[in-house]
Amino acid sequence: MNAPFLLAPMAELSHRPLRELIEGFEKPGSGCDEYFTEMISAGPLLGGGPFERWYMDAGPCPGKVVYQLVGSDPDQLVRAAALLDGRDCLGIDINMGCSAPAIRRTGAGVAWMASADRAASLIARVRPAVKKRLSVKLRIGFEDDFDYLLTFCRRLEGEGTELITVHPRTAGEKFRRSPRWDYVAALRRELHIPVAGNGDIASAAELLRRAGQGPCGRAGPVMVGRAAVRCPWIFAEAKRARAPEAQKTAPDAIDLEEVSLRFLELLAKYQPPEFYISRSRRFFNYFCDNLKWAHHVKTMLNREETPGGIERALRRYFGENPEERHLRRG
Ligand SMILES: Cc1cc2nc3c(=O)[nH]c(=O)nc-3n(C[C@H](O)[C@H](O)[C@H](O)COP(=O)(O)O)c2cc1C
Repeated sequence: MNAPFLLAPMAELSHRPLRELIEGFEKPGSGCDEYFTEMISAGPLLGGGPFERWYMDAGPCPGKVVYQLVGSDPDQLVRAAALLDGRDCLGIDINMGCSAPAIRRTGAGVAWMASADRAASLIARVRPAVKKRLSVKLRIGFEDDFDYLLTFCRRLEGEGTELITVHPRTAGEKFRRSPRWDYVAALRRELHIPVAGNGDIASAAELLRRAGQGPCGRAGPVMVGRAAVRCPWIFAEAKRARAPEAQKTAPDAIDLEEVSLRFLELLAKYQPPEFYISRSRRFFNYFCDNLKWAHHVKTMLNREETPGGIERALRRYFGENPEERHLRRG
């Protein structure tokens, strides 16, 4: 069986419009195998905040959606996990990897990695509340210490975690240094549950390489974050390359203007107006890296304050730079 492809949880990015876009590059239902949502804060979710229904929208393929929860209070996490588990979804993921200071300071995200006891006791409490798959997403921890990571993962496994995703950088590294993929291979050898690897995959070819069985380890799921925003067709391209010769379809060029406008349409359809500007800026911050004048376009879009303004600016850019419109697929 082929190793599954996972879309990473990314705040303000891993939402329904991006899933719709990714699914649109393949025949329905086959775009990416699992879609992690952006992190959902347990407290506000339970408080029934005004935007929670948008965070919980698992369309267009709820059966492939994994809700990611973030928080520091075990009671809240247990109740929030039970609430989301009752919805149509594939599973629940607990964020123990986010290193953003605002999250870490509250004792959430990667702060859980400071104590294997505390993390294991959380999982022991969440486990009975989740009937679907329970997973955890991690970094290496605070130090570059594989033995600590392994012990930590074994404790989570012992409490019933069914999948662990590792972004193999330490808490302090953010996106510096190369991710230590050899740790992913070593964890796959040591643990009984699947271990997904994540970090710096930039192309469909690299995705396939990481998903393939390496010389030193078992194959396993592979998670992609930023590259799936820059190239929402990355999963489709990798799946086409992996298809038997007879089923291969011819590569098309990607119409970047069409993808941009489609994204804006989906954003307007599936997100509240309050999110429109911040989320389009987030998306285009990565997507524009496909363009020769990426920096100029990002600056131009960041100046726009209305959805109509963003759309007009994109149309103008592609009108003035027609050679930028089509990107050849590999
Ligand atoms: C804008 C942004 C938001 C992120 N938000 C989350 C999040 O909500 N939860 C989480 O576990 N990781 C989050 N991450 C980390 C990603 O899930 C992923 O681990 C990281 O980007 C490395 O993968 P990549 O190199 O494929 O992008 C975020 C990353 C980015 C760039």
